[in-house]
Amino acid sequence: MSTKNFDVVVIGGGPGGYIAAIRAAQLGMNVACIDEWKNAKGGPAPGGTCTNVGCIPSKALLQSSEHYEHLNHHFAEHGITADNVQIDVAKMLARKDLVVKQNNDGILYLFKKNKVTFFHGRGSFVGAKEGGYEIKAGEEVIQAKQVIVATGSNARALPGAPFDEEFILSNDGALRIGGTPKKLGVIGAGVIGLEMGSVWRRLGAEVTVLEGLPVFLGAVDEGVAKEAAKVFKKQGLDIQLGVKISEVKTAKSGVTVSYADAKGEAKSLEVDKLIVSIGRVPNTIGLNPEAVGLALDERGAIVVDADCRTNLPGVWAVGDVVRGPMLAHKAEEEGVAVAERIAGQHGHVDFDIIPWVIYTSPEIAWVGKTEQQLKAEGRAYKAGQFPFMANGRARALGDTTGFVKMLADAKTDEILGVHIIGPFASELVAECVVAMAFKASSEDIARICHAHPSLSESTKEAALAVDKRTLNF
Ligand code: FAD
Ligand code: NAI
Repeated sequence: MSTKNFDVVVIGGGPGGYIAAIRAAQLGMNVACIDEWKNAKGGPAPGGTCTNVGCIPSKALLQSSEHYEHLNHHFAEHGITADNVQIDVAKMLARKDLVVKQNNDGILYLFKKNKVTFFHGRGSFVGAKEGGYEIKAGEEVIQAKQVIVATGSNARALPGAPFDEEFILSNDGALRIGGTPKKLGVIGAGVIGLEMGSVWRRLGAEVTVLEGLPVFLGAVDEGVAKEAAKVFKKQGLDIQLGVKISEVKTAKSGVTVSYADAKGEAKSLEVDKLIVSIGRVPNTIGLNPEAVGLALDERGAIVVDADCRTNLPGVWAVGDVVRGPMLAHKAEEEGVAVAERIAGQHGHVDFDIIPWVIYTSPEIAWVGKTEQQLKAEGRAYKAGQFPFMANGRARALGDTTGFVKMLADAKTDEILGVHIIGPFASELVAECVVAMAFKASSEDIARICHAHPSLSESTKEAALAVDKRTLNF
């Protein structure tokens, strides 16, 4: 077989695409992956939004800024003090860039290890050919029996205020602000707004977040959202709900946002930088879907069925470019499942138990249904809640904010949702996902031995609380 004929061609090398390519190669297929992301030197930087301007760099900055905040505000109670604590933003950004590069290099290594042919450049449909498709891969044209599209998403701009990445910042610009702004504005109190707002607040910026909806974190369990609002306010994040943005104007000195507040009163906010994080739009720029008649919906997302099949035989799509939550792990699971389906196996993604994490401090994590969803469905449920304040490990950590809340079916006791706000919620939620995947009851968790002292005992105690028999609260 010529090297230009592939069983599978994956367009896009983010978490959806690169994982699909690796899994397809593991299953014995001849695979190519095309990705156009360039590093600062113009070289390849596979890993997509997640690796380059998303999950990984944001977590690097969250970590650096958390160290700074701890040194400034929390270490004294441990008897540790330091004079003249400084933040070198350039160094912090350089470390973040290094973390990104390590991930880029890791993916290139994995392609080699799994014999995936990598093309650095744009991938686009040329046309259908008998038994497959012709795909432009950079300057070359290659043949594919099956195509997996994983072209991701882009930040949505406010109408009339395009990103200039100097004053009006998308996630890209928000991750490389060269020095702590005195005043930072954020439009959208969603995941990016809260994570990036937290980074720059910890480093000393005065942060104002303007949110269009009248409720805070509407998709999150109400109890958790209420606790989060209280804590973020105490930390100094000024979150204004129910606003309507009317105009965004840039000048040499910064940005002015004109808006109506929740009462309809005209207000204006002057900031040095403005992060606009109001959601993302599926990306098919340059893919040339028209050449083959690939169907898109009104949002520009590629139309797929539950198994990620598009309207075209042998063309699949996964990740942010299709329906469903825009999360890296969701994209990866879809990528694996599609590769397995192509190989004739029965890949499966359980959309009901995809975990969510917001990496603020405290972290917020959940899986399954919220209390408000269960109420709306009229489903009878029992709730158990345990505060970290009553957990020995949390006290030793000096991080007792928040709680674990478990929701279980009133009759069968099957766990329907778990909602956590507190230390290492991102790690604690994994046990709950496993439990739900195995259809565990709250009693199952309550009867499993958890290490002491550990934060995970709070999950066990929340399970005990479902049956009103917590031991430590
Ligand atoms: P992408 O990661 O967007 O990758 C698509 C790739 O395809 C890109 O490299 C792009 O250049 C390439 N491409 C597009 N078109 C073409 C073409 N025609 N030819 C060649 N290449 C092309 N999710 C989490 O789960 N956890 C987090 O902590 C998290 N943090 C985030 C933080 C931020 C600031 C942002 C913006 C997002 C975050 N996300 C997080 C979301 C996550 O990044 C996405 O859900 C994930 O990257 C989607 O993966 P994907 O493979 O579908 O697309
Ligand atoms: P988001 O959907 O999380 O939040 C957008 C917010 O902006 C919403 O609260 C919305 O009501 C508000 N909004 C929309 N239009 C507005 C307007 N005109 N004026 C004021 N407010 C407005 O989107 P975000 O934060 O941009 O992130 C995009 C996606 O990236 C997330 O949905 C998530 O899928 C992914 N992501 C995941 C992370 C994680 O898993 N930890 C971290 C960051 C992003």
